[in-house]
Amino acid sequence: MSKPLAIAVAGLGTVGAGVLKLLEANAGLIAARAGRPIIVGAVSARDRTRDRGISLEALRWYDDPVALAADPGTDVVVELIGGSEGPARALVDAAIAAGKPVVTANKALLAVHGAALAEKAEARNVLLAFEAAVAGGIPAIKGVREGLAANRLSRVAGILNGTCNYILTVMREQGREFAEVLAEAQKLGYAEADPAFDIDGIDAAHKLAILAALAFGRPVDFGAVHVEGIRNITALDIALAGELGYRIKLLGIAARTPGGISTRVHPCMVPAAAPIARVDGVFNAVVAEGDFVGRVMLEGRGAGAGPTASAVVADLIDLARGRHTPVWGAASGALESVPAEPMERHRGAYYLRLMVLDRPGVIADVTGILRDQAISLESMLQRGRAPGEAVPVVLTTHECEESQMRAAIARIAALETVLETPALIRIEPL
Ligand SMILES: NC(=O)c1ccc[n+]([C@@H]2O[C@H](COP(=O)([O-])OP(=O)(O)OC[C@H]3O[C@@H](n4cnc5c(N)ncnc54)[C@H](OP(=O)(O)O)[C@@H]3O)[C@@H](O)[C@H]2O)c1
Repeated sequence: MSKPLAIAVAGLGTVGAGVLKLLEANAGLIAARAGRPIIVGAVSARDRTRDRGISLEALRWYDDPVALAADPGTDVVVELIGGSEGPARALVDAAIAAGKPVVTANKALLAVHGAALAEKAEARNVLLAFEAAVAGGIPAIKGVREGLAANRLSRVAGILNGTCNYILTVMREQGREFAEVLAEAQKLGYAEADPAFDIDGIDAAHKLAILAALAFGRPVDFGAVHVEGIRNITALDIALAGELGYRIKLLGIAARTPGGISTRVHPCMVPAAAPIARVDGVFNAVVAEGDFVGRVMLEGRGAGAGPTASAVVADLIDLARGRHTPVWGAASGALESVPAEPMERHRGAYYLRLMVLDRPGVIADVTGILRDQAISLESMLQRGRAPGEAVPVVLTTHECEESQMRAAIARIAALETVLETPALIRIEPL
């Protein structure tokens, strides 16, 4: 068997420790599939004394992760620290500059600096691999970039954040409110102490930016992603969506449209019978639509030590075998600069839930505003009667433009009889 592939691992947290455990547990089959053993020679983390459930005795320890790039016994640098800046970025830059391939799980880094990093990697002719950065254990990168490479893709979409999917699932199954379920998810370890990155949709937007670049062959553009999270979703909306035959999911959707490429992350109502509607709990899913393949859906665990380590080690096996695909599927110079379509131009159907005073003429005022904006109603549902008190009214619309809907909502929210900020959820026929 050929010379082992020697790796250095920066970051020994959930994913880093998981990678070391997996490499040890499956060493034999990995060596067979990689054509040579993959061995860890050096590591870096902040706290050398922390018990990580793995033995670090035989390994070279570095306090400074960036120094791993210059470690003479290292063939490949594995960056598992995280964050788009700081030591993770410095290490990846240093490794590429030193001509060493990099494997990372860092979606923030790829989404924000991926275009520049790909150019640097190309200039040095080194591989930058990031299967674990999108949807954890699901081979989404390889699936879209390699498996579907022969297709012109029209859309790629997915449930890209397990924390949000878990919270929405529990809210629906138990009829509970967001804040309470979030607090419980934090106790169970499904949500971070600072959950903003997940629940405000930023983590999903990082992943969507990466998928969109791969799907449409254009430079990664995180700034173009329209992002909304799940903080404003209520148990009432989830229940009403159910009555209408829908489930609420936080989706990332990238699509080719007449105006360019639209990329958006926001809560969506999807038909309850759609396969993606049934992806529950911490599971993720990625759907892609290609001109020759049709629709493909991949489902699995999007996070956690085992699934994420599985993706990191798959990249290492590719490297050991010498399989080399350009970072974004094609050389940087061959990527197209397709314009990003602004959210105002999005076309779709909408669910609108109002809390209105139960008084004659209220519905006429609301429907009059929608008519003025040329928005046609698909259905209307009023729950209960309580003269003089607040009652929920739900309207669903036919397809219209986001700008029309925003103009209508601004006027509806200003009506004296409309008591709370209207809830607006986009309906997606996935
Ligand atoms: N967790 C998941 O399920 C998952 C899934 C997909 C992708 N990812 C990505 O994988 C990466 C790692 O995530 P994680 O969940 O494993 O994070 P984590 O558990 O917080 O681990 C981070 C590791 O980085 C080390 N570290 C932090 N700052 C450092 C520094 N300045 N110098 C050296 N080491 C430093 C920490 O050292 P100490 O242990 O000594 O504190 C820790 O071992 C992130 O990019 C994340 O987005 C994670």
